Amino acid sequence: MVVIIRKKFKPAQHQQRRLLLAGGVLSLVALSMLGISIAYLYTPHRITPCGLVGDLCVKSSYPPPPPPLRTFSDEEVASRAVAKDILSQRRMYQGGTPKIAFMFLTPGPLPFEFIWEAFFKGHEGLYSIYVHASERNTLKSIWRSRVFADREIPSDKVYWGRIEMIDAERRLLSRALLDLNNHFFVLLSESCIPLREFTYIYSALMNSTFSFVDNFDDPGPHGLGRYIEDKMTPEVQPYDWRKGAQWFAVMRRHAVLLVSDYLYYMKFRDFCKPGEENHNCYPDEHYVQTYLHMVDPGGLSNWTLTHVDWSEGGWHPKSYGKEDITVETLRHLQSIDEHVHVTSDAAATMTTVPCLWDGEHKPCFLFARKFLAETAEALADVLPQVTKTASSE
Ligand SMILES: *[C@@H]1O[C@H](CO)[C@@H](O)[C@H](O)[C@H]1NC(C)=O
Ligand SMILES: *[C@@H]1O[C@H](CO)[C@@H](O)[C@H](O)[C@H]1NC(C)=O
Repeated sequence: MVVIIRKKFKPAQHQQRRLLLAGGVLSLVALSMLGISIAYLYTPHRITPCGLVGDLCVKSSYPPPPPPLRTFSDEEVASRAVAKDILSQRRMYQGGTPKIAFMFLTPGPLPFEFIWEAFFKGHEGLYSIYVHASERNTLKSIWRSRVFADREIPSDKVYWGRIEMIDAERRLLSRALLDLNNHFFVLLSESCIPLREFTYIYSALMNSTFSFVDNFDDPGPHGLGRYIEDKMTPEVQPYDWRKGAQWFAVMRRHAVLLVSDYLYYMKFRDFCKPGEENHNCYPDEHYVQTYLHMVDPGGLSNWTLTHVDWSEGGWHPKSYGKEDITVETLRHLQSIDEHVHVTSDAAATMTTVPCLWDGEHKPCFLFARKFLAETAEALADVLPQVTKTASSE
């Protein structure tokens, strides 16, 4: 089932309007009463992950967002209604073993084709592969491994930091959703590698009660600074704005939400763009994060499953080269069990939160990037030693 929400509501007749208005006032009153009782019930007892680790964790000084003090538009109400319905569906699809959809977003060939082939080997029926090769038109046959050969989907050009990146993600999600047995949807790039064996990743995702979407409230120039108030309001409020890494792994109902949303998607398409006049907004760092946070904050992990090293600073993360491929380095990446966010303002507030899988403190990452193509040979040798040991703990 795919529900498409478009901006196509025509103004109602006078009579209907008055009725709607009355209904609106009534529901506002009801809502504020509900709000008051919820505030009363929950204020003093909120437990945050920070509370569990004491001084490991510097709490963000940001106050919690105020409830929206406005009436939603018809489009917003319709969008919320569809979201609520999709989120309430907990059913498993009958007639097949649940699978994970591995969705590769790549310009062309995958340098780690054989690493992935080895990763999938012996697990047929438990995974599906989808490849969006955006430079496809300029390439001849690019697949050497049979696992990938017939898994390409019709693709289009992708430009770094622009809405076409989100379009490609939605294209991948739509194709993958057509297979009802796909339960989890993992977005990967050509520079990604698996950090664990297939069975470990399969049970980790299938057991998960939330989607893995990186997501934090950055008050600095690379977070809230990219939000353009007069363009994004009223649908996206400043306290809704989130920032996070692009590489997500979402459960089916979140995947359906992402392909069925047009209301918020169009806001980001029109007003979140690179360029100084647009506050250098990059949709891939904000759209999925902000939208899913708005409709289902409790359904998200708030960290990404794909490790990347930002410790060197600058615009791009560290790229791992041949000399980095050792058992020790890869074991270290596997063992990281806290996720860190640093605000981009002058205060550079660091928040460290343990990775809790359904309440259990465990290593955060199942994948890692960015690995240069030159590491393929070394990885083929070293990676199996690392993933094997870790899985048989
Ligand atoms: C979920 O986790 C349990 C225990 O950790 C494991 O035995 C089980 O196989 C997992 N479920 C799936 C679907 O992998
Ligand atoms: C992620 O953050 C939201 C609030 O933004 C919270 O409701 C949710 O519980 C968090 N997820 C986890 C796994 O802690």
